[in-house]
Amino acid sequence: MELKGKTAIITGAGRGIGEGIALAVARAGANVVVNDMNFENAQGVVKTIESGGGKALAFKADVTKKAEIDAMVAATVAKFGTVDILVNNAGIESSPMLLKDIPEKQWDRVLGVNLKGVFLCCQAVIPVMMNHNKGRIININSLAGRRMTFFGSADYTASKHGGVGLTLHLAWELAESHITVNAICPGATLTPLAEAGTTPEYREMVTKRLVPLGRWCTPDDIGGAVIYFASDNADMVTGQLLDVDGGVMTGYGEDLRPIVRKRMEELRAKAG
Ligand SMILES: NC(=O)c1ccc[n+]([C@@H]2O[C@H](COP(=O)([O-])OP(=O)(O)OC[C@H]3O[C@@H](n4cnc5c(N)ncnc54)[C@H](O)[C@@H]3O)[C@@H](O)[C@H]2O)c1
Repeated sequence: MELKGKTAIITGAGRGIGEGIALAVARAGANVVVNDMNFENAQGVVKTIESGGGKALAFKADVTKKAEIDAMVAATVAKFGTVDILVNNAGIESSPMLLKDIPEKQWDRVLGVNLKGVFLCCQAVIPVMMNHNKGRIININSLAGRRMTFFGSADYTASKHGGVGLTLHLAWELAESHITVNAICPGATLTPLAEAGTTPEYREMVTKRLVPLGRWCTPDDIGGAVIYFASDNADMVTGQLLDVDGGVMTGYGEDLRPIVRKRMEELRAKAG
């Protein structure tokens, strides 16, 4: 129970990756605030945690609204006494389109949730963490923050690159308060968001082309990385980006294997 007695806020935790993180963090012994705009989903996750013997609170708040986020942090402190861990997971992706066609409203919304939301949640928890001279901020970024998205549009890519900048800058700024700030960059992860926007054929093609380890990530894979950053094992780790992507960032997927192996055999045969 690496996180026994700690309190974590997970944003956008009503489903998908956030739900997986909330369940993993609860299994590790932490009290969990399950934030989501969809209150019913958040309540469902809380029920699951409580039925496993954990402690949790569902809180409806839009990460783009300062007053709602401040209220969430106040409610967390009132119920559990403090905030030790913030996981900025809430995020949205627009449908794929060329930059010339992106409506201004869509740009504002994607940047609002994925970047301003991280800013507002950090701003709300930092004073609480500073009181204890310790804290963990973990940003769920994306391979889109390392390269680009192959699901959505440039607005998403830009928002996630902004998230990388915020992670690095904050890691430096908060180091003297012993608050670490790290980011996890998931590769393609099977969640309702990803499932709704793709076909099984598309997903298989992506795996073959891009994922050397040969499958999509699960929310549990991301939860495991969150536990590491939140645990005492990561006391000296800050300003880091951890790709949890099955090897996508090596740049070579399964498709390349038969080609490379065939060439090796040919060269070996030639050499005798
Ligand atoms: N699924 C993937 O393949 C993938 C890959 C890389 C990164 N990510 C990132 O992981 C995070 C979670 O993605 P997911 O696939 O689980 O998405 P999802 O749509 O399945 O879940 C996102 C949750 O966030 C909530 N949410 C959305 N806007 C919110 C807001 N303004 N305030 C509070 N809650 C809000 C939604 O209600 C939803 O429950 C996102 O930041 C996403 O960019 C996902």
